[in-house]
Amino acid sequence: MAQENPAGGFKSRKAVVSPGRLMRQTRYALHQGSRLALYTLHGQAMRRMTQRMEKDLPPVAPPVPSGPVPDQRRMLADIIKLYADDLANVEAGHYPLPNDGRMSPRELMRTSQTFFKDVPEVARRRATGAHQEVFEDEAQFSSALPRYYRQNFHFQTDGWLSEDSARLYDFQVDVLFSGATAAMRRRALVPFADFLRKHDQRHVRYVDIACGTSGLLGPALTAFPRLSGVGLDLSEPYLNLARTRVATHRASLTNAKAEALPFADSSLDVVSSVFLFHELPPRIRKQVFSEVARVLRPGGYFLFVDSLQTGDVPDYDGLLSLFPQLFHEPYYTSYLTEDFSAMGAETGLQLKTVDPAFVSRIATFEKI
Ligand SMILES: C[S@@+](CC[C@H](N)C(=O)[O-])C[C@H]1O[C@@H](n2cnc3c(N)ncnc32)[C@H](O)[C@@H]1O
Repeated sequence: MAQENPAGGFKSRKAVVSPGRLMRQTRYALHQGSRLALYTLHGQAMRRMTQRMEKDLPPVAPPVPSGPVPDQRRMLADIIKLYADDLANVEAGHYPLPNDGRMSPRELMRTSQTFFKDVPEVARRRATGAHQEVFEDEAQFSSALPRYYRQNFHFQTDGWLSEDSARLYDFQVDVLFSGATAAMRRRALVPFADFLRKHDQRHVRYVDIACGTSGLLGPALTAFPRLSGVGLDLSEPYLNLARTRVATHRASLTNAKAEALPFADSSLDVVSSVFLFHELPPRIRKQVFSEVARVLRPGGYFLFVDSLQTGDVPDYDGLLSLFPQLFHEPYYTSYLTEDFSAMGAETGLQLKTVDPAFVSRIATFEKI
């Protein structure tokens, strides 16, 4: 950096990075870089496997984007920006240095093998349009669950409804997002940290709805060590896995519907949800918003993380339109144009902020 001195001319001043900071940056870069490489390679191998299998499967119409699709260089630049922002959030003290999805080499090998074993099953469902296996098999999958829920979302084996599906879910999502999933979820911790600066963590009542295997609940309880939280989901197998992952007395996990929350009116301070709304029919989305508004106390926060919507980042609009053509995502197209700001206003949740982060949008609503 150049600086003017009183005697005229310029003297040079090097930016000094403390050893602690350099160590943190190096650890972060090595950890996230290896994840990026691992999941990108899995994605490439999966696509090659799928192409080979497609020759023996019924032909599928090639997907047609309805707008611009970012090239690989642009996507990589956006992932790197996501990581730079993530690290900046760590350095700003919003949350500690992350430790995303560490697996022992044995566990990694096992999960990778299971992932590749499942690829032909996903390709078969895509080629034959088989996305109702979970609905049709009433003996294995409870018919008490809502009809819209009992589907093979993403052409996933067993939908949301088996231990095998739960064990594979995070790996599959990371292959889809090149390992950047946890960094996108973590963006919700920034407004959360902001809320906790004004409130005593020990008394904050927090629920993560559709918590899955604890992708946000776990990091939230690690980041905020005096906070307790409830993870709520409709999938017992996903909750069972979450129980093993957030083994702390500060967490409890409960099986319930997001559209019928088992909490009293105005009883919660913070509610979060990650990657739920694009999986819901429009009517249920609105019910969930009303429920979140009902259970939050005035001034409480609703932290929303989900896919980008059309127009959020216009260069990605075509890519978003491809997603439901490639995967079984029955409600995604309507999600893309859902007006969540208006839905919030109707139900008593005021939109405060909305930001894109790679392929996700992070919105904060406040109960009025
Ligand atoms: C795409 S996953 C997201 C899971 C998790 N939030 C994450 O960040 O990975 C969607 C989750 O929503 C849950 N889900 C879907 N509809 C639900 C509903 N009506 N009530 C509660 N959970 C629901 C599914 O069981 C699944 O765990």
